[in-house]
Amino acid sequence: MERLRIGLIGYGYWGPNLVRNFSTCPATEAVAVCDASPARRAAAARTYPGVATAASVDELLDLPLDAVAVATPVSTHFPLAMRCLEAGKDVLVEKPLAGSVREAQILTARAARLGRVLMVDHTYLFSNAVRRMKQLVESGDLGDLHYVDSVRINLGLFQTDVNVVWDLAPHDLSIVEYLLGTPPRSISAWGCAHATPEIEDIAYVNVDYGENLMANFHVNWLSPVKVRQIIVAGSKKSMIFNELNPAEPLKVYDRGIELSESEETQRLRVGYRTGDLWSPHIEAGEALQAMATHFADCVRGRADPVSDGRMGVRVVRLLEAATRSIRAQGGRLVLPGGETTYGDGDAGAIRPGDLRPGLTDRPPGPGRSHSLLR
Ligand SMILES: NC(=O)c1ccc[n+]([C@@H]2O[C@H](COP(=O)([O-])OP(=O)(O)OC[C@H]3O[C@@H](n4cnc5c(N)ncnc54)[C@H](O)[C@@H]3O)[C@@H](O)[C@H]2O)c1
Repeated sequence: MERLRIGLIGYGYWGPNLVRNFSTCPATEAVAVCDASPARRAAAARTYPGVATAASVDELLDLPLDAVAVATPVSTHFPLAMRCLEAGKDVLVEKPLAGSVREAQILTARAARLGRVLMVDHTYLFSNAVRRMKQLVESGDLGDLHYVDSVRINLGLFQTDVNVVWDLAPHDLSIVEYLLGTPPRSISAWGCAHATPEIEDIAYVNVDYGENLMANFHVNWLSPVKVRQIIVAGSKKSMIFNELNPAEPLKVYDRGIELSESEETQRLRVGYRTGDLWSPHIEAGEALQAMATHFADCVRGRADPVSDGRMGVRVVRLLEAATRSIRAQGGRLVLPGGETTYGDGDAGAIRPGDLRPGLTDRPPGPGRSHSLLR
């Protein structure tokens, strides 16, 4: 089968990883690189002498290509992806799909109308460790999920067009959507800008998925150390994904609490369970290679990618909501479909898009704790 001929726009920090993977993936071929910067075009030509370079998108689109990958700053995704879709190309866009929900929706609708494949590179969905995490969640081994806690911090590459939430949280939001398959109900975020006004470089994002399941994401460009860790905690077991430990990226802990009722006092007693710790085998293989293969398969089969435009829109919706909440000092935003989050008499009063301080849907008292009993 002929390899899918791909042109790349944007050979900055991330683009070279895409070209390397398109070049080595049996299903794809990197045919050309377009970058506005002569220095970056020269760098591409030095590393890949067989790959053409183009100074403009028009020049790129004159070449015989099947598809285009867009790896430029977020604010440019919309016009570039739109131009390529309208030129009849299938398009892969780096995360996040676009700089606003509106733009992401328009791209998704245009791709559908033109019959083009539109995929977002939510890279972690193609990581073997994250796929194993999904199997563990779906098998029920973890029990009822209680929380997700992610820390994604380092001395980051400061972006000029988006804040740290738009830069790093697309990873967490796409991973959690992939693992849970549940739409979030509300979101609240705090953040601060230390380097550039209005471009937050540290943020804490809290997402409520209902059913007593909440997720917290700490994203930060100012940390002296690099941490990439996600805890998914359940009533039976918990797992920790630490991608900086390539030998054992995933660990499953049979540790947690056991609730029982004291016969004398009739009160709930909390006990602790410390069982085995194991590290599931994770197949070797680069996520970007699997991502490139999936894109090629979807283009060949005219199929919807796992991370299609609609998923791209959902992630962008959360990024937009998180930024809105940050500007409102952590005000909690009810998300579409989340009207019933607050239950009881409040349900009718709080609509999607409402921003309220300090709301909570978590009923206090023993009714809640009993769901932990096994
Ligand atoms: N999937 C991941 O894990 C991952 C990791 C890092 C970055 N990214 C994403 O990749 C994208 C690019 O990020 P980056 O850090 O590489 O940015 P960057 O600024 O390092 O590189 C962008 C490149 O695009 C070029 N460019 C900008 N506008 C252009 C235009 N109109 N036409 C042609 N070239 C243009 C610039 O000259 C530059 O070389 C972002 O969307 C980012 O979120 C994804």
